Amino acid sequence: MTFTLTVEHKKKREEFRCFAEEELDSGDHFPQENLQKAAERGYMGYPIPVQWGGQGRDFLSYILLIEEISRVCSSTGAITAVHTSVGTFPILYYGTDQQKKRYLPGLARGELLGAFALTEAGAGSDAASLATTATAVEDGYRLNGSKLFITSGGQADIYTVFATVDREKGVKGITAFLVEKNTAGLIVGKPEKKMGLNRSHTTELQFEDLFVPKSNRLGNEGEGFKIAMSLLDGGRIGIAAQGLGMARAAIDFTVNYLKEQDLKGNKTEQGVSFVLADLACSFEAARLLVYRAAALKDSGARCSKEASMGKMFATDLAMTAATKCMDLCGLASAREESPLVRYFRDAKAPQIYEGSNQIQRIVIARQILRDY
Ligand code: CAA
Repeated sequence: MTFTLTVEHKKKREEFRCFAEEELDSGDHFPQENLQKAAERGYMGYPIPVQWGGQGRDFLSYILLIEEISRVCSSTGAITAVHTSVGTFPILYYGTDQQKKRYLPGLARGELLGAFALTEAGAGSDAASLATTATAVEDGYRLNGSKLFITSGGQADIYTVFATVDREKGVKGITAFLVEKNTAGLIVGKPEKKMGLNRSHTTELQFEDLFVPKSNRLGNEGEGFKIAMSLLDGGRIGIAAQGLGMARAAIDFTVNYLKEQDLKGNKTEQGVSFVLADLACSFEAARLLVYRAAALKDSGARCSKEASMGKMFATDLAMTAATKCMDLCGLASAREESPLVRYFRDAKAPQIYEGSNQIQRIVIARQILRDY
């Protein structure tokens, strides 16, 4: 058993770290330039096979990439993670050859942006109770309903949308569709004003008699819920990596600050050491959980429980780290211009999206009960 990354993975992490530190900005507008730079390096399709325009890298390398990007700009990390694991993988895993040819090369090269439309006003945690309908018509379906809190809404070129062909059937009626951005009947709301992660646009989507050709149905009728859940397994590891990057950003900033204070003669006290040691310890534990989940996914095994453990632990840690680091740095860290304020604001949403951390606990506990 080994608990360290391979030499190759360490090299990759160094490459991603240099890229993020030297090339990315952490401004306040949609990070188009960051995404463009990531695309130029092949990072928008990192784990997508070469035959489909990607880099063909393993999932663990992709997780290291998201961690390093998120350390510098967590919004860019969120957009890249959502684009890859729930924006592109749906087509890679469940698409027909025709769908793969049409969409994958553009998505993998970062010329197209992908998004995932599951959540509704009345169906967040209870995703199975979604109400958007897909009515069969000649050659396709008509979609009616709306989605909420869609990452990259309005910026995305292609949405994987979940709708029901028959509400009576419950989860067995849920079906997935690929909807292109300029389709008649797709109405995109204004970006939500959020507490954090403001560079990543989050919008409502409405479908008004939107026609989807049969050729854009993803998988069979009734397979949509399982498709959504299986994609979220990988998606949650990506959000966990975002949590790792955010936690590290807060810890790195604080360690540098404390060392400066020591140089000025303000000696670091025992109380500070205890907090720092606890954070460092939790961070190492989080990394092990997240990397293990990624390695399990690479092995082809189901990783629902491990993904949920990593997502819950790492994103909770990002929030704790931001809070504790603000305590350690004192009042100056509460000034709006302090990076810790951004880390604090950005850390909340990842605890909630791609399944709140309460939902992760349900997934973990159900698996434990099944295994006993
Ligand atoms: N892989 C494959 N199949 C799975 C699965 C998985 N990970 N999880 C469940 N299934 C299957 C089950 O086996 C079951 O199939 P059978 O009936 O054939 O046995 C079927 O799906 C139904 O499963 P459950 O009974 O477990 O379903 P449930 O209704 O009890 O829901 C839940 C479970 C875990 C609570 C689920 O609703 C859930 O994950 N909710 C959170 C939703 C979520 O994460 N939303 C995030 C949306 S994306 C986002 O936030 C932002 C963005 O823009 C990306």
